[in-house]
Amino acid sequence: MLAVKGITKKLPDGRLLLREISFEAKKGEFIGILGESGVGKTVLLRCINGLTTPDSGEVILNEDGNPQKINGKKGQELRRIRRRIGMIFQGSILVKRLSVLENVLTGGLGRISTMRSLLYGFTDKEVQAALSALEKVGVKHLAGRRAETLSGGEMQRVAIARALFQEPCLLLADEPVANLDPKNTEVVLDYLKPLTKEMAIIAVFHAPELVSRYCTRAIAIKDGTVVYDGSPHLSSSVLEYIYGTGPAVKSA
Ligand SMILES: Nc1ncnc2c1ncn2[C@@H]1O[C@H](COP(=O)(O)OP(=O)(O)OP(=O)(O)O)[C@@H](O)[C@H]1O
Ligand SMILES: [Mg+2]
Repeated sequence: MLAVKGITKKLPDGRLLLREISFEAKKGEFIGILGESGVGKTVLLRCINGLTTPDSGEVILNEDGNPQKINGKKGQELRRIRRRIGMIFQGSILVKRLSVLENVLTGGLGRISTMRSLLYGFTDKEVQAALSALEKVGVKHLAGRRAETLSGGEMQRVAIARALFQEPCLLLADEPVANLDPKNTEVVLDYLKPLTKEMAIIAVFHAPELVSRYCTRAIAIKDGTVVYDGSPHLSSSVLEYIYGTGPAVKSA
């Protein structure tokens, strides 16, 4: 469904950040991306959804046998493909002064044009879809609350609902449980996991034990390349290699 083919990305200072990153993702998969801070995980997610253009390589979204290249597209065409990719950003930010429902409705990247929402408001169908997205992550009861009054865990669930409102076939989540306590981490991941029935999820994690508990597969990046792609249960020698200076290991 998603094919990432040989993504290479240089930084403005000329440093090669990502080198020939390739992998595929299918509906039903929950892929955990691991790697040291600064290795390029966020940049990789941005390349996948077209927010950043790689120097070479391709990202192809193949839905219903209709493959579409993401990079190289512009304007409306890019927005149309990107609508199929939900994104939860690192440290997801809601518009504090808007209600939860308004955050979901206005955050639907590409689904509703800002101009139209400002001019005409939302249709009943759109409101129902936003409420249903909130229900999927157990926060429908918070629809009328101002975003600034939510707890961190609730905000993160609203950020997921905002992504779901787009009806994505691929959900990218950059550290979806960063800054959450253990209980809220579980709550958020317990809501995320079943969404793989309808989509593929690729999420960045810093805790390998969460990847082991929730993901169906792990991908690790080191020195700009994929050094591990396999079982989410990573051995200590694999982890030492990813985060330290241990010897190279084979993917399981
Ligand atoms: N637009 C940019 N201009 C210059 N450098 C950038 C840019 N975007 C990212 N970088 C650099 O690229 C490197 C990788 O950044 P990235 O945010 O992808 O790391 P990360 O793996 O997500 O780290 P973390 O786990 O801390 O979130 C960092 O050194 C960062 O400073
Ligand atoms: Mg990051």
